[in-house]
Amino acid sequence: MPFDLDMIKAVYKALPARVEEARKTLGRPLTLTEKILYTHLHPESPLQNYSRAKDYVFFAPDRVAMQDATAQMALLQFMMAGRDNVAVPSTVHCDHLIQAEEGAAQDLAKANDVNKEVYDFLSSVSNKYGIGFWKPGAGIIHQIVLENYAFPGGMMIGTDSHTPNAGGLGMVAIGVGGADAVDVMAGMPWELKMPKVIGVKLTGKMSGWTSAKDVILKVAGILTVKGGTGAIVEYFGDGAESLSCTGKGTICNMGAEIGATTSTFGYDEAMGRYLRATERAEVADLADGVKEHLTGDAECYANPEKYFDQVIEINLSELEPHINGPYTPDLAWPISKFAQAVKENNYPQKLEVGLIGSCTNSSYEDLDRAASLARQAVDKKLKVKSEFTVTPGSEQIRFTVDRDGQLQDFEKMGGVVLANACGPCIGQWARHTDDPNRANSIITSFNRNFSKRNDGNPQTRSFVASPEIVTAMAIAGDLTFNPLTDTLKNENGEDVKLDPPTGVELPAKGFAVEDAGFIPPAADGSGIEVKVDPNSDRLELLTPFKPITQEQLKGMRLLIKAKGKCTTDHISMAGPWLKYRGHLDNISNNCFIGAINFFNGEMNKVANYVDSEDEAEYLGVPDSARKYKAAGISTVVFGEENYGEGSSREHAAMEPRHLGVRAVIVKSFARIHETNLKKQGMLALTFVNPDDYEKVRQDDKIDILGFNEMAPDKNLTVKLHHKDGSTEEFEVAHTYNQAQIDWVSAGSALNKIREELAS
Ligand code: F3S
Repeated sequence: MPFDLDMIKAVYKALPARVEEARKTLGRPLTLTEKILYTHLHPESPLQNYSRAKDYVFFAPDRVAMQDATAQMALLQFMMAGRDNVAVPSTVHCDHLIQAEEGAAQDLAKANDVNKEVYDFLSSVSNKYGIGFWKPGAGIIHQIVLENYAFPGGMMIGTDSHTPNAGGLGMVAIGVGGADAVDVMAGMPWELKMPKVIGVKLTGKMSGWTSAKDVILKVAGILTVKGGTGAIVEYFGDGAESLSCTGKGTICNMGAEIGATTSTFGYDEAMGRYLRATERAEVADLADGVKEHLTGDAECYANPEKYFDQVIEINLSELEPHINGPYTPDLAWPISKFAQAVKENNYPQKLEVGLIGSCTNSSYEDLDRAASLARQAVDKKLKVKSEFTVTPGSEQIRFTVDRDGQLQDFEKMGGVVLANACGPCIGQWARHTDDPNRANSIITSFNRNFSKRNDGNPQTRSFVASPEIVTAMAIAGDLTFNPLTDTLKNENGEDVKLDPPTGVELPAKGFAVEDAGFIPPAADGSGIEVKVDPNSDRLELLTPFKPITQEQLKGMRLLIKAKGKCTTDHISMAGPWLKYRGHLDNISNNCFIGAINFFNGEMNKVANYVDSEDEAEYLGVPDSARKYKAAGISTVVFGEENYGEGSSREHAAMEPRHLGVRAVIVKSFARIHETNLKKQGMLALTFVNPDDYEKVRQDDKIDILGFNEMAPDKNLTVKLHHKDGSTEEFEVAHTYNQAQIDWVSAGSALNKIREELAS
């Protein structure tokens, strides 16, 4: 039993009183979102009426999940916190690093070989610190979480943007960066701006070709990729109750595509059935006992305009299957309009590959319904025209559909079963093609379809649809085919029509699995040594950062004065650098290589004055930083507005810190990045007068004065020593509170935790 029943019992025991207190404090009925958020306030945020979209609030999530690409740096950092164990139940899932090429067995064997040191590291850290480890091939993080850990009314964070999938089981589940996971695992509060709440009322009942995926494809069309930003989407209505639990999971999963913080559904019978089918009858019984607290108050759903920031209504009885894309998931086409769209926009009509499964759509129901079409293809003597792949979301699903015959149905129609992993969804796809740059069309039941996402080819038009529609389109091999109305020619030359898909929500014989791939942690991990090869180029143990001193803040040099937009991608590029996510020194070779140098308008070319005070040597930014560091000279970075926007990627703060940057001084910060700099023990400062940015020259020597007296709300002073002998001074502000100043004094937030645990 991998899930933590005691933790869930404790949450449910406290729930009725906490919901009642929150209702009293807010003085009105509560949405489900509010019930979950207000019952998960961290003691650092007292119970009060927080303003949506305005107030920053500290929360105490119930659990943490991490995927293998983001877990590496998160765990390397967590190891420095000095804890014996994680503060909340946590899991690691090996799903992102398996490349799809030949088929499940071969691809998994290759991944185990290529990524051995990363997997060994993740499993030994998990074993030592009480973290559940799901080995390669066990499945995709969100499917495993839904099958094992999600519980109604719970709150979790996960280091992957599709963590909201657990909303299918009534959770508030939020995708975050590794640094946030470290906070929660280390026992620190987790901060979020109180989200807005968007209500989606579902009425009616789906039938025929329509499936849960079409709800979110439709919502994406309405709200667009930005419409959910800063909001939690709460689904309700009799239509919501008619959906299976896993169907709800699909809808919540793809809420990430509208930018939503997360999405959720109230507890209902479908969730109870799923909990029981996945051997969590105790959780279902406990949830039944507090069920009125696991859904929004009736008044909120009766008068949604009063309690939600925005309300959308969708009638499932009238909902058509949708196909969204290409290049963006909010370009929504009802299937009746799609053929015309293909012709008008010159999308390549021939469909080359259909791909079903992924974390979004690999439930038993999804695969059973898609398999009913695969069987029809064989029975009706239809020759399948496109390549077809199936990615089961977990070994439990794969084993069960193998036992029940659906996998064989797919194989009979020519499908290839891939490993239980992300594979083509994250571009881990060695696609077989004659020309990797050719314009072509593919269709998936995944969630994202940005340019190059699946196969790296910007000419690939990737469309997103339900597994049923993907399967039907793959049989036809033609994007203008509408399975609801059109016929296909079979091998006998007859016109045949596909019947609407059929399937069941849950396996009649129950789920089964021989080896689910879960490795529980040691009961006592104190004797376990985490080994990292010192010669590894992918992993490197971290050494605690040393605190900044006033002495180091004198005579500093400019590393880069970044011009214009400087996002976390400019600071720490992704793409090929993903490989080094667990090796701070190696990944630091991408530090600021995408930022524009104010003085020459170029990328990755900055002046360095180590060898000569008079003549600049032009170097790449990481090389210049390393040269200053080796010479014992501290550096400063200057930037403009909204510096560090983009992601919560902690590497964008750790790399400059590692390379000897002491302070980042900008016109304004993206808030998450500012916090990340603070956590790494650096100075994140803003110009009091933004025009002072203009005063900084590339050959200046720079002092920061007042560091030893740093206090909340007290400005520091920057003194520029120009080469001509003149000096200029200006004030810089900061937003450090006393606790954050203590992080700087300790060298980093993690050093501070370690000090506290040791004392
Ligand atoms: Fe993996 Fe794609 Fe889901 S990358 S976690 S299958 S969105």
